[in-house]
Amino acid sequence: MGEGVFIHALESFYRRRPRWTRPSIHACELDPRLPGRLDRSDRRLTVRCRRADFLRVRFGRPFDAVLANPPYVRHHELNYDDELLGEFDRLAGRRLSRMMNLYGLFMLRIASLLGPRGRAAIILPAEWLNADFGVPLKAFLLERNVLDGIVHFSHRVMIFPTALTTAAILLLRRGRAPCESIRLSRAEDAGSLSSKTLRDARRVRAEDLSPTRKWSPIIESDAPLQTAHHRLGEVAACSRGIATGANDFFVLRPSKCRELRLSSRDVRPCISRARQIEGPRLTGQAMRRLIASDEPLYLLSPRQMLSPAVQAYLGEGRRRGIDRRYLPSHRPVWFRPEERKPAPILIAVFARGDFRVVLNSAGALNLTAYHGIYPRNSTAAVVKSLHAYLCSPEGQRALSAQRRIYGGGLYKLEPRDVEAVELPEALWRKLS
Ligand SMILES: C[S@@+](CC[C@H](N)C(=O)[O-])C[C@H]1O[C@@H](n2cnc3c(N)ncnc32)[C@H](O)[C@@H]1O
Repeated sequence: MGEGVFIHALESFYRRRPRWTRPSIHACELDPRLPGRLDRSDRRLTVRCRRADFLRVRFGRPFDAVLANPPYVRHHELNYDDELLGEFDRLAGRRLSRMMNLYGLFMLRIASLLGPRGRAAIILPAEWLNADFGVPLKAFLLERNVLDGIVHFSHRVMIFPTALTTAAILLLRRGRAPCESIRLSRAEDAGSLSSKTLRDARRVRAEDLSPTRKWSPIIESDAPLQTAHHRLGEVAACSRGIATGANDFFVLRPSKCRELRLSSRDVRPCISRARQIEGPRLTGQAMRRLIASDEPLYLLSPRQMLSPAVQAYLGEGRRRGIDRRYLPSHRPVWFRPEERKPAPILIAVFARGDFRVVLNSAGALNLTAYHGIYPRNSTAAVVKSLHAYLCSPEGQRALSAQRRIYGGGLYKLEPRDVEAVELPEALWRKLS
């Protein structure tokens, strides 16, 4: 129900069609303050609003149509018990991810409330189309043959002004014929919806839509549904950068090292910020330039025997409570960040256009602004050809097929997205 936008829209829809049979409307809202605010002056439709939790309320009957704009609540803010989640597992016919956003549960409940030939239109963040928690949702929709279409908004616009996320409208229909196609359509913005019909939408077969693939790139780029499958993960590993848990303590500027009289053997050069790398290669010369401009790039990695200078600095860390912070306190030794080899190739975690892929000739470590790519065959020529591919337009297209899209044109790659990037046959052979 919320503020009643849908009810008002229905009121004006039926006002313009006086001869049509009026539906009886059931609304649901958890917030006790909201339904009261609905303007009752020009009410033509019968609306019954339940002040209840939509996931638990019993309606006692199926519906011909459902319209919804479900709440966006992340999994760690949900406080539903295992019993309710178990009920949803049974409803979906599979175990659902416990990382699922509340709107995923709404989607399942809505699908279960549709009567024969019932339809639903649900506006949702597009995230579930690409996230791991969306896989069982997609599998459920395909298995029950209720997925009728998706209208995907351009990620250049922000449909939900307060949430950094892209939107998509999910259209469900019960009673679809087994071989009916699914319609995938794009919308530039909310304004373009009123003139939109699904007649020109791309039609795909349910069996060609795999639940494990990301669907936004398929809808956005008309990407082919069946492709050769050589993945980067078969020939290289990708991992997150080192998380120190307190960069302001563990990552030092050269001037600070001098002031503390730290030996160069107690620190290791690392890239701590995305913008510290400019071009496609990180050379020794570029590192020297960063050192000359006093960038924070020395990661504290003390030798076994702690020098007096290191001991003094660790004392300062304890006084500042660094050892009690979350990550340091969960390490075997609080001041020893993970042991890592420098990654031969680095890739930026976030991008606004192409993802920056860097050949790490300087052998620097990387913190979390970059992921590290470690080819199993790490001979220089092989590493170079993988780097060249990932920088090329073809490689960037393969990367963008895996990226997660945030609103406002921000893209992100998780290590497993990088490992899912498709490689051309010839390169894959070279790396194998
Ligand atoms: C995105 S808003 C919907 C806006 C609505 N379309 C309108 O016209 O304002 C989501 C609404 O769901 C309500 N809500 C959140 N959790 C709920 C739950 N478990 N059951 C029912 N309503 C819930 C919120 O209070 C909020 O009003």
